[in-house]
Amino acid sequence: MLEHRNFSSFNIFVCIDNPNKVELQTELSGVHNVNLYSYKKLRIATDDFSQTNKIGEGGFGSVYKGKLKTGQMAAIKVLSSESSQGLKEFLTEIQVISDVEHENLVKLYGCCVEGNQKILVYNYLENNSLAQTLLGNGHSRIQFSWRTRVNICIGVANGLAHLHEEMTPHIVHRDIKASNILLDKDLTPKISDFGLAKLIPPEMTHVSTRVAGTLGYLAPEYAMVGKLTRKADIYSFGVLLIEIVTGRCNTNMRLPTDEQYILERIWQLYKRRELVTLVDTSLNGDFDAEQACRFLKIGLLCTQDSPKLRPSMSAVIQLLSGEKNVDENKLTRPGLISDLMDMKVRPTPKTELDFNHISSSYTSSGSEHLDLTSSMANFSQATMVV
Ligand SMILES: Nc1ncnc2c1ncn2[C@@H]1O[C@H](COP(=O)(O)OP(=O)(O)OP(=O)(O)O)[C@@H](O)[C@H]1O
Ligand SMILES: [Mg+2]
Repeated sequence: MLEHRNFSSFNIFVCIDNPNKVELQTELSGVHNVNLYSYKKLRIATDDFSQTNKIGEGGFGSVYKGKLKTGQMAAIKVLSSESSQGLKEFLTEIQVISDVEHENLVKLYGCCVEGNQKILVYNYLENNSLAQTLLGNGHSRIQFSWRTRVNICIGVANGLAHLHEEMTPHIVHRDIKASNILLDKDLTPKISDFGLAKLIPPEMTHVSTRVAGTLGYLAPEYAMVGKLTRKADIYSFGVLLIEIVTGRCNTNMRLPTDEQYILERIWQLYKRRELVTLVDTSLNGDFDAEQACRFLKIGLLCTQDSPKLRPSMSAVIQLLSGEKNVDENKLTRPGLISDLMDMKVRPTPKTELDFNHISSSYTSSGSEHLDLTSSMANFSQATMVV
Protein backbone atom coordinates (compact mmCIF):
# COMPACT_ATOMS: atom_id res chain seq x y z
CA MET A 1 0.00 0.00 0.00
CA LEU A 2 1.04 3.55 -0.55
CA GLU A 3 1.69 5.35 2.65
CA HIS A 4 2.72 8.86 3.36
CA ARG A 5 6.40 9.05 3.93
CA ASN A 6 8.27 11.00 6.44
CA PHE A 7 10.27 13.59 4.58
CA SER A 8 11.98 15.13 7.53
CA SER A 9 15.38 14.26 6.21
CA PHE A 10 14.79 15.62 2.69
CA ASN A 11 14.67 19.20 1.60
CA ILE A 12 15.66 19.30 -2.04
CA PHE A 13 13.29 19.72 -4.96
CA VAL A 14 13.56 20.70 -8.58
CA CYS A 15 11.33 23.48 -9.83
CA ILE A 16 11.13 24.00 -13.58
CA ASP A 17 10.12 27.50 -14.58
CA ASN A 18 7.35 27.91 -12.06
CA PRO A 19 6.06 31.41 -11.41
CA ASN A 20 4.50 30.36 -8.09
CA LYS A 21 7.83 29.15 -6.90
CA VAL A 22 7.85 31.12 -3.67
CA GLU A 23 4.28 30.18 -2.72
CA LEU A 24 4.98 26.54 -3.47
CA GLN A 25 8.17 26.60 -1.52
CA THR A 26 6.36 26.27 1.79
CA GLU A 27 4.24 23.33 0.60
CA LEU A 28 7.24 21.69 -0.90
CA SER A 29 9.59 21.82 2.00
CA GLY A 30 10.48 18.20 2.46
CA VAL A 31 9.44 16.98 -1.00
CA HIS A 32 12.42 16.06 -3.09
CA ASN A 33 13.16 15.14 -6.68
CA VAL A 34 9.73 16.05 -8.04
CA ASN A 35 9.93 17.98 -11.27
CA LEU A 36 7.45 20.82 -11.39
CA TYR A 37 6.29 22.09 -14.77
CA SER A 38 4.54 25.41 -15.20
CA TYR A 39 1.11 25.38 -16.81
CA LYS A 40 2.51 27.69 -19.48
CA LYS A 41 5.19 25.18 -20.40
CA LEU A 42 2.65 22.41 -20.76
CA ARG A 43 0.34 24.64 -22.82
CA ILE A 44 3.19 25.28 -25.21
CA ALA A 45 4.13 21.60 -25.27
CA THR A 46 0.59 20.55 -26.23
CA ASP A 47 -0.23 23.48 -28.53
CA ASP A 48 -2.70 24.83 -25.99
CA PHE A 49 -4.06 21.36 -25.21
CA SER A 50 -5.33 21.12 -28.76
CA GLN A 51 -7.75 18.40 -29.85
CA THR A 52 -5.21 17.13 -32.36
CA ASN A 53 -2.82 16.43 -29.51
CA LYS A 54 -5.42 14.69 -27.40
CA ILE A 55 -4.60 10.99 -27.32
CA GLY A 56 -7.27 9.74 -25.03
CA GLU A 57 -9.53 10.12 -22.10
CA GLY A 58 -9.88 7.89 -19.09
CA GLY A 59 -11.39 7.94 -15.64
CA PHE A 60 -8.81 10.38 -14.39
CA GLY A 61 -9.07 12.96 -17.17
CA SER A 62 -7.73 13.75 -20.63
CA VAL A 63 -4.33 12.77 -21.95
CA TYR A 64 -2.40 14.90 -24.46
CA LYS A 65 0.73 14.25 -26.43
CA GLY A 66 3.26 17.02 -25.98
CA LYS A 67 6.78 17.97 -26.87
CA LEU A 68 8.77 19.36 -23.97
CA LYS A 69 11.37 22.09 -24.37
CA THR A 70 14.07 19.44 -24.06
CA GLY A 71 12.68 17.80 -27.20
CA GLN A 72 11.38 14.86 -25.19
CA MET A 73 7.87 13.64 -26.02
CA ALA A 74 5.49 13.42 -23.08
CA ALA A 75 2.01 12.14 -22.28
CA ILE A 76 0.36 14.92 -20.30
CA LYS A 77 -2.54 13.81 -18.14
CA VAL A 78 -4.84 16.56 -16.93
CA LEU A 79 -6.57 15.24 -13.82
CA SER A 80 -10.25 16.03 -13.97
CA SER A 81 -11.25 15.50 -10.40
CA GLU A 82 -12.05 18.24 -7.98
CA SER A 83 -9.67 16.66 -5.58
CA SER A 84 -10.15 17.66 -2.02
CA GLN A 85 -6.63 16.53 -1.37
CA GLY A 86 -4.24 19.25 -0.24
CA LEU A 87 -1.19 20.14 -2.25
CA LYS A 88 1.18 18.61 0.20
CA GLU A 89 -0.67 15.27 0.22
CA PHE A 90 -0.85 15.33 -3.58
CA LEU A 91 2.87 15.97 -3.87
CA THR A 92 3.61 13.30 -1.33
CA GLU A 93 1.87 10.74 -3.52
CA ILE A 94 3.56 12.16 -6.59
CA GLN A 95 6.89 11.72 -4.90
CA VAL A 96 6.18 8.03 -4.28
CA ILE A 97 5.32 7.57 -7.97
CA SER A 98 8.33 9.64 -9.11
CA ASP A 99 10.67 7.45 -7.12
CA VAL A 100 9.61 4.32 -9.00
CA GLU A 101 12.06 3.32 -11.72
CA HIS A 102 11.71 0.09 -13.64
CA GLU A 103 11.95 -0.97 -17.26
CA ASN A 104 8.35 -2.15 -17.20
CA LEU A 105 6.78 0.82 -15.44
CA VAL A 106 5.89 4.11 -17.14
CA LYS A 107 8.16 6.87 -15.88
CA LEU A 108 6.57 9.93 -14.32
CA TYR A 109 8.63 12.96 -15.31
CA GLY A 110 6.87 15.36 -12.96
CA CYS A 111 3.73 17.35 -12.47
CA CYS A 112 2.12 20.76 -12.62
CA VAL A 113 0.17 22.21 -9.73
CA GLU A 114 -1.23 25.65 -10.42
CA GLY A 115 -4.53 26.96 -9.14
CA ASN A 116 -6.95 24.05 -9.33
CA GLN A 117 -4.94 22.34 -12.04
CA LYS A 118 -3.23 19.08 -11.32
CA ILE A 119 -1.39 17.64 -14.27
CA LEU A 120 0.92 14.67 -14.55
CA VAL A 121 3.71 14.46 -17.10
CA TYR A 122 4.77 10.98 -18.20
CA ASN A 123 7.18 9.40 -20.60
CA TYR A 124 5.36 9.06 -23.94
CA LEU A 125 5.00 5.53 -25.28
CA GLU A 126 4.88 5.24 -29.05
CA ASN A 127 2.83 2.11 -29.51
CA ASN A 128 -0.26 2.82 -27.48
CA SER A 129 -1.92 0.36 -25.13
CA LEU A 130 -2.71 -3.35 -25.40
CA ALA A 131 -6.40 -2.39 -25.29
CA GLN A 132 -6.07 -0.41 -28.51
CA THR A 133 -3.66 -2.70 -30.30
CA LEU A 134 -3.89 -6.38 -29.38
CA LEU A 135 -7.49 -6.18 -28.19
CA GLY A 136 -8.56 -3.28 -30.40
CA ASN A 137 -10.75 -3.23 -33.44
CA GLY A 138 -8.28 -4.81 -35.82
CA HIS A 139 -6.81 -1.59 -37.22
CA SER A 140 -3.49 -1.96 -35.41
CA ARG A 141 -0.48 -2.44 -37.63
CA ILE A 142 1.34 -4.32 -34.87
CA GLN A 143 1.74 -8.04 -35.29
CA PHE A 144 1.75 -9.75 -31.92
CA SER A 145 3.80 -12.87 -32.55
CA TRP A 146 3.94 -15.54 -29.88
CA ARG A 147 7.44 -14.39 -28.85
CA THR A 148 6.22 -10.81 -28.50
CA ARG A 149 3.32 -11.96 -26.32
CA VAL A 150 5.64 -13.97 -24.08
CA ASN A 151 7.86 -10.89 -23.65
CA ILE A 152 4.85 -8.75 -22.83
CA CYS A 153 3.53 -11.21 -20.24
CA ILE A 154 6.93 -11.55 -18.56
CA GLY A 155 7.57 -7.78 -18.71
CA VAL A 156 4.24 -6.94 -17.09
CA ALA A 157 4.87 -9.59 -14.42
CA ASN A 158 8.28 -8.06 -13.69
CA GLY A 159 6.82 -4.56 -13.44
CA LEU A 160 4.07 -5.67 -11.07
CA ALA A 161 6.50 -7.72 -8.97
CA HIS A 162 8.59 -4.56 -8.59
CA LEU A 163 5.60 -2.62 -7.22
CA HIS A 164 4.54 -5.48 -4.97
CA GLU A 165 7.80 -6.82 -3.71
CA GLU A 166 10.63 -4.38 -4.26
CA MET A 167 9.01 -1.13 -3.17
CA THR A 168 8.82 -0.24 0.51
CA PRO A 169 6.04 0.24 1.39
CA HIS A 170 4.67 -1.93 -1.38
CA ILE A 171 2.33 -0.47 -4.00
CA VAL A 172 -0.96 -2.09 -4.99
CA HIS A 173 -1.78 -0.93 -8.51
CA ARG A 174 -5.60 -1.36 -8.22
CA ASP A 175 -6.26 -1.07 -11.95
CA ILE A 176 -4.23 -3.61 -13.90
CA LYS A 177 -5.91 -3.92 -17.30
CA ALA A 178 -5.10 -3.84 -21.02
CA SER A 179 -5.51 -0.06 -21.34
CA ASN A 180 -2.91 0.43 -18.62
CA ILE A 181 -0.29 -1.63 -20.42
CA LEU A 182 1.52 0.68 -22.81
CA LEU A 183 4.07 -0.38 -25.42
CA ASP A 184 7.26 1.43 -26.37
CA LYS A 185 8.77 1.45 -29.84
CA ASP A 186 10.27 -2.02 -29.29
CA LEU A 187 6.99 -3.36 -27.87
CA THR A 188 8.43 -3.50 -24.36
CA PRO A 189 5.42 -3.27 -22.04
CA LYS A 190 5.18 -0.54 -19.43
CA ILE A 191 2.51 -0.50 -16.74
CA SER A 192 0.88 2.91 -16.37
CA ASP A 193 -1.28 4.61 -13.74
CA PHE A 194 0.16 3.01 -10.61
CA GLY A 195 -0.39 5.15 -7.56
CA LEU A 196 -3.12 7.20 -9.23
CA ALA A 197 -6.06 5.87 -7.27
CA LYS A 198 -4.79 7.74 -4.24
CA LEU A 199 -4.87 11.06 -6.04
CA ILE A 200 -8.61 11.34 -6.47
CA PRO A 201 -11.50 11.01 -4.03
CA PRO A 202 -12.43 7.44 -3.07
CA GLU A 203 -15.97 7.71 -4.44
CA MET A 204 -14.47 8.17 -7.89
CA THR A 205 -12.11 5.27 -7.69
CA HIS A 206 -14.26 2.52 -6.32
CA VAL A 207 -16.73 0.32 -8.04
CA SER A 208 -19.52 2.89 -8.35
CA THR A 209 -18.29 5.11 -11.17
CA ARG A 210 -15.23 3.55 -12.70
CA VAL A 211 -16.48 0.02 -12.92
CA ALA A 212 -17.67 0.05 -16.52
CA GLY A 213 -14.48 -0.69 -18.38
CA THR A 214 -12.73 -2.46 -15.58
CA LEU A 215 -15.22 -4.85 -14.11
CA GLY A 216 -13.92 -7.93 -15.84
CA TYR A 217 -10.56 -7.46 -14.13
CA LEU A 218 -11.83 -6.89 -10.62
CA ALA A 219 -11.20 -9.53 -8.01
CA PRO A 220 -14.53 -10.44 -6.41
CA GLU A 221 -13.41 -9.50 -2.91
CA TYR A 222 -12.31 -6.05 -4.11
CA ALA A 223 -15.34 -5.38 -6.28
CA MET A 224 -17.84 -6.37 -3.63
CA VAL A 225 -16.43 -5.28 -0.33
CA GLY A 226 -13.46 -3.17 -1.31
CA LYS A 227 -10.94 -5.57 0.20
CA LEU A 228 -7.75 -4.46 -1.46
CA THR A 229 -4.54 -6.43 -1.25
CA ARG A 230 -1.81 -7.36 -3.70
CA LYS A 231 -3.89 -10.45 -4.44
CA ALA A 232 -6.51 -8.24 -6.13
CA ASP A 233 -3.81 -7.07 -8.58
CA ILE A 234 -2.77 -10.68 -9.12
CA TYR A 235 -6.34 -11.57 -10.05
CA SER A 236 -6.35 -8.71 -12.62
CA PHE A 237 -2.96 -9.83 -13.90
CA GLY A 238 -4.38 -13.34 -14.41
CA VAL A 239 -7.23 -11.96 -16.51
CA LEU A 240 -4.77 -9.88 -18.55
CA LEU A 241 -2.51 -12.90 -19.09
CA ILE A 242 -5.44 -14.87 -20.50
CA GLU A 243 -6.36 -11.94 -22.74
CA ILE A 244 -2.84 -11.73 -24.15
CA VAL A 245 -2.72 -15.45 -24.99
CA THR A 246 -6.24 -15.59 -26.41
CA GLY A 247 -6.26 -12.16 -28.09
CA ARG A 248 -9.76 -11.47 -26.81
CA CYS A 249 -11.31 -9.19 -24.20
CA ASN A 250 -12.35 -10.69 -20.91
CA THR A 251 -15.99 -9.96 -21.74
CA ASN A 252 -17.62 -10.03 -25.15
CA MET A 253 -21.39 -9.94 -25.17
CA ARG A 254 -21.50 -10.65 -28.89
CA LEU A 255 -20.34 -14.22 -28.38
CA PRO A 256 -22.66 -17.14 -27.60
CA THR A 257 -23.82 -17.09 -23.98
CA ASP A 258 -21.37 -19.62 -22.60
CA GLU A 259 -18.38 -17.91 -24.22
CA GLN A 260 -19.04 -14.32 -23.15
CA TYR A 261 -16.93 -14.33 -20.00
CA ILE A 262 -13.44 -15.53 -20.63
CA LEU A 263 -12.99 -16.99 -17.14
CA GLU A 264 -16.08 -19.14 -17.50
CA ARG A 265 -14.92 -20.24 -20.92
CA ILE A 266 -11.37 -21.07 -19.90
CA TRP A 267 -12.59 -23.15 -16.94
CA GLN A 268 -14.89 -25.17 -19.19
CA LEU A 269 -12.08 -25.82 -21.66
CA TYR A 270 -9.57 -26.53 -18.92
CA LYS A 271 -11.81 -29.26 -17.55
CA ARG A 272 -12.21 -30.73 -21.03
CA ARG A 273 -8.42 -30.51 -21.52
CA GLU A 274 -8.95 -28.33 -24.56
CA LEU A 275 -7.16 -25.18 -23.41
CA VAL A 276 -5.11 -25.02 -26.58
CA THR A 277 -8.24 -24.20 -28.59
CA LEU A 278 -8.41 -20.85 -26.79
CA VAL A 279 -5.06 -19.59 -28.10
CA ASP A 280 -5.47 -16.65 -30.50
CA THR A 281 -6.31 -18.00 -33.95
CA SER A 282 -4.61 -14.99 -35.54
CA LEU A 283 -1.30 -16.68 -34.68
CA ASN A 284 -2.20 -19.28 -37.32
CA GLY A 285 -0.86 -22.04 -35.13
CA ASP A 286 2.59 -20.42 -34.90
CA PHE A 287 3.11 -20.73 -31.14
CA ASP A 288 4.55 -23.00 -28.50
CA ALA A 289 1.49 -24.98 -27.41
CA GLU A 290 3.01 -26.27 -24.17
CA GLN A 291 4.02 -22.76 -23.15
CA ALA A 292 0.69 -21.24 -24.17
CA CYS A 293 -1.26 -23.79 -22.12
CA ARG A 294 1.07 -23.18 -19.17
CA PHE A 295 0.40 -19.44 -19.40
CA LEU A 296 -3.35 -20.07 -19.47
CA LYS A 297 -3.08 -22.29 -16.39
CA ILE A 298 -1.09 -19.57 -14.62
CA GLY A 299 -3.96 -17.22 -15.51
CA LEU A 300 -6.29 -19.69 -13.82
CA LEU A 301 -4.05 -19.90 -10.74
CA CYS A 302 -4.09 -16.10 -10.44
CA THR A 303 -7.86 -15.76 -10.78
CA GLN A 304 -8.90 -18.29 -8.16
CA ASP A 305 -11.72 -17.11 -5.95
CA SER A 306 -9.77 -17.38 -2.74
CA PRO A 307 -7.10 -14.65 -2.64
CA LYS A 308 -4.79 -16.77 -0.54
CA LEU A 309 -4.64 -19.47 -3.21
CA ARG A 310 -3.36 -16.99 -5.80
CA PRO A 311 0.43 -17.00 -6.19
CA SER A 312 2.62 -13.99 -5.40
CA MET A 313 4.10 -12.10 -8.35
CA SER A 314 7.57 -13.56 -7.77
CA ALA A 315 6.03 -17.04 -7.91
CA VAL A 316 4.20 -16.04 -11.09
CA ILE A 317 7.53 -15.07 -12.67
CA GLN A 318 8.99 -18.47 -11.80
CA LEU A 319 5.92 -20.18 -13.24
CA LEU A 320 6.05 -18.15 -16.45
CA SER A 321 9.73 -18.90 -16.97
CA GLY A 322 9.14 -22.62 -16.37
CA GLU A 323 11.45 -22.57 -13.36
CA LYS A 324 8.51 -23.78 -11.29
CA ASN A 325 5.73 -26.15 -12.36
CA VAL A 326 2.04 -25.32 -12.22
CA ASP A 327 0.56 -27.54 -9.51
CA GLU A 328 -2.80 -28.42 -10.98
CA ASN A 329 -3.87 -30.43 -7.95
CA LYS A 330 -4.31 -27.18 -6.12
CA LEU A 331 -6.20 -25.40 -8.87
CA THR A 332 -9.71 -24.25 -7.96
CA ARG A 333 -12.23 -22.60 -10.24
CA PRO A 334 -12.03 -18.88 -10.95
CA GLY A 335 -13.80 -16.30 -8.84
CA LEU A 336 -16.17 -14.27 -10.93
CA ILE A 337 -18.74 -11.60 -10.36
CA SER A 338 -20.69 -12.56 -13.44
CA ASP A 339 -23.55 -13.71 -11.23
CA LEU A 340 -24.40 -10.10 -10.75
CA MET A 341 -23.90 -9.42 -14.43
CA ASP A 342 -26.24 -12.28 -15.22
CA MET A 343 -29.10 -10.56 -13.46
CA LYS A 344 -28.92 -7.59 -15.79
CA VAL A 345 -27.55 -8.77 -19.06
CA ARG A 346 -28.13 -12.47 -19.29
CA PRO A 347 -31.56 -13.95 -18.89
CA THR A 348 -30.39 -17.55 -19.22
CA PRO A 349 -29.61 -19.75 -16.23
CA LYS A 350 -26.07 -19.92 -15.01
CA THR A 351 -23.60 -22.29 -16.52
CA GLU A 352 -22.09 -25.14 -14.56
CA LEU A 353 -20.04 -22.59 -12.66
CA ASP A 354 -21.89 -21.79 -9.52
CA PHE A 355 -20.90 -18.45 -8.13
CA ASN A 356 -23.83 -18.22 -5.74
CA HIS A 357 -21.60 -17.92 -2.76
CA ILE A 358 -20.23 -14.69 -4.15
CA SER A 359 -23.49 -12.93 -4.87
CA SER A 360 -25.32 -14.12 -1.79
CA SER A 361 -22.54 -13.19 0.55
CA TYR A 362 -22.15 -9.72 -0.86
CA THR A 363 -25.64 -8.54 -1.73
CA SER A 364 -26.24 -7.32 1.79
CA SER A 365 -23.29 -4.97 1.62
CA GLY A 366 -25.45 -2.01 0.69
CA SER A 367 -24.64 0.73 -1.74
CA GLU A 368 -21.70 -0.98 -3.38
CA HIS A 369 -23.97 -3.73 -4.60
CA LEU A 370 -26.53 -1.24 -5.87
CA ASP A 371 -23.87 0.75 -7.66
CA LEU A 372 -22.49 -2.37 -9.19
CA THR A 373 -25.76 -3.64 -10.59
CA SER A 374 -26.77 -0.23 -11.87
CA SER A 375 -23.55 -0.12 -13.83
CA MET A 376 -24.24 -3.34 -15.65
CA ALA A 377 -25.91 -1.79 -18.65
CA ASN A 378 -22.84 0.39 -19.15
CA PHE A 379 -20.63 -2.58 -18.58
CA SER A 380 -22.09 -4.60 -21.38
CA GLN A 381 -21.60 -1.68 -23.77
CA ALA A 382 -18.20 -0.62 -22.60
CA THR A 383 -16.47 -3.94 -22.84
CA MET A 384 -17.84 -5.20 -26.10
CA VAL A 385 -15.37 -5.88 -28.84
CA VAL A 386 -16.24 -3.60 -31.72
N1 LIG B 1 2.42 7.53 -21.24
C1 LIG B 1 1.59 7.40 -22.28
N2 LIG B 1 2.07 7.31 -23.54
C2 LIG B 1 1.24 7.16 -24.59
N3 LIG B 1 -0.10 7.08 -24.50
C3 LIG B 1 -0.64 7.17 -23.26
C4 LIG B 1 0.18 7.35 -22.09
N4 LIG B 1 -0.65 7.38 -21.01
C5 LIG B 1 -1.90 7.24 -21.50
N5 LIG B 1 -1.90 7.11 -22.83
C6 LIG B 1 -3.08 6.90 -23.68
O1 LIG B 1 -4.08 7.80 -23.27
C7 LIG B 1 -5.34 7.14 -23.24
C8 LIG B 1 -6.05 7.45 -21.96
O2 LIG B 1 -5.32 6.93 -20.87
P1 LIG B 1 -5.92 6.94 -19.42
O3 LIG B 1 -4.93 6.27 -18.54
O4 LIG B 1 -6.34 8.32 -19.07
O5 LIG B 1 -7.22 6.08 -19.57
P2 LIG B 1 -7.44 4.53 -19.59
O6 LIG B 1 -6.20 3.82 -19.15
O7 LIG B 1 -7.97 4.18 -20.95
O8 LIG B 1 -8.57 4.32 -18.54
P3 LIG B 1 -8.46 4.52 -16.97
O9 LIG B 1 -8.60 5.95 -16.67
O10 LIG B 1 -9.59 3.73 -16.46
O11 LIG B 1 -7.11 4.01 -16.55
C9 LIG B 1 -5.08 5.67 -23.44
O12 LIG B 1 -5.56 5.35 -24.70
C10 LIG B 1 -3.61 5.49 -23.42
O13 LIG B 1 -3.24 4.63 -24.46
MG1 LIG C 1 -4.79 4.40 -17.87
